[in-house]
Amino acid sequence: MASRRQFLGSTLAATLLARPGRAEPRAAALPRGQWPPDALQDDETYWRTLRREFTLPAEEAFFNTGTIGSSPRIVQDTVIDHMRMVDATVAHWDYKPEHPDWFSGYRPETELRAKIGALVGASGDEIALTQNATVGMNYVANGMPLQPGDEVILTDQEHPGGRTGWDLKAKRHGIYVKQVHVPVPPENPQQLIDLYVNATTPQTKVWAIPHLTSQLAIRFPVADMCRLARDRGIFTVIDGAQCCGHLRLDLRAIGCDAYYSSPHKWLLAPKGCGWLYVSAARLPQLWATLASSNWDNYHDGAYRLFQIGTGNLSLLKGYEAAIEFHNRIGPERVERRIMALADRLRAGLAQVPQAHVHSPTHAELTSATTVWSLDGWTAVELMDQLWDRARIRCRSMGDPWGVRQCCHIYNLPEDVDRTLATVRQMTRERRG
Ligand SMILES: Cc1ncc(COP(=O)(O)O)c(C=O)c1O
Repeated sequence: MASRRQFLGSTLAATLLARPGRAEPRAAALPRGQWPPDALQDDETYWRTLRREFTLPAEEAFFNTGTIGSSPRIVQDTVIDHMRMVDATVAHWDYKPEHPDWFSGYRPETELRAKIGALVGASGDEIALTQNATVGMNYVANGMPLQPGDEVILTDQEHPGGRTGWDLKAKRHGIYVKQVHVPVPPENPQQLIDLYVNATTPQTKVWAIPHLTSQLAIRFPVADMCRLARDRGIFTVIDGAQCCGHLRLDLRAIGCDAYYSSPHKWLLAPKGCGWLYVSAARLPQLWATLASSNWDNYHDGAYRLFQIGTGNLSLLKGYEAAIEFHNRIGPERVERRIMALADRLRAGLAQVPQAHVHSPTHAELTSATTVWSLDGWTAVELMDQLWDRARIRCRSMGDPWGVRQCCHIYNLPEDVDRTLATVRQMTRERRG
């Protein structure tokens, strides 16, 4: 198991100790969080031990990772300790390039971008740092050189953070945004592919595809779709807000031109951390949206695309810690675990005649998120009852969809079972 010392070595100490001859500022408190334990013999013991690295109270089950994740203590501690260090030691900052910065925004953050790239199957050069998926979507929509009459195809299931940058471009520059209607739930991947293929015309320049939709957790067959788009010379941009830290990502295998995500959801990064990928081949075609000193730098990959001025370096330190936390568990192990929890939930709901799953059930379209309703209860009632009776936090998706329940690594099988027991109790009280 890596020690705290190793961890400290990568953050505060690197900042404070690599500056010999200086009056050493008062060191911040040691991080209190731990890295995940090494593999334990009994897998369930591993997850129970890991659960203690989260500050969520033991009696509360948080199932709304699709909105924001709950960062493990080591991520919280990294951010907070670094913020304390910055404010206590800022007088030591001398602007010399060989010394570390106290804030972000004026350096390419090469190391962090390389780590994100390694996690998602891209090179660090192809990664721009953003605040979230919404910013990534806007950078692509705004930066694409489209002409009036050019078409962008997207779905009627987009989150505003996957659509509105295109709406703005349509109103301002006269492009045409075509929404295809997604059947709910879709029966198979081909149905989703056909929506885009059938809507394509000679004017179509972009397919904007949600990898996993926000409201109903519909997983799109993005690799097949990108291949078809490529054959037609169409640019592909994927909204992966729900995917980083949830599904294993290999962007090269997906073959998209651009992809953006919100790692403050499933990757459990600090809130306000995002990334945008633009393939090396497509990067030169994309204009920057914001300009600071490197807006026209075509030598340093996607650095050009995040010229945002002063930012919070402490968040980026926490972002890096979240990537390491995830990597130490292993993306494959995370995905296997959370899919198993979701399968347990879906299997249990299938035993309750009054319960209805609205997210897909086709194996290739499912994820760790399930959207389900219960006869006789509105979506808000269901959300509130789960919380009031059993301290289970799901999110209402409105009627008739019910609640969205996202299974993540801080959820245990008994949290799922408690959901199902509460459902059975509720069905005895009210009949649909
Ligand atoms: C599919 C999808 N796209 C975009 C977003 C926007 O994410 P953010 O608010 O982090 O930019 C969300 C948020 O839930 C989402 O689910």
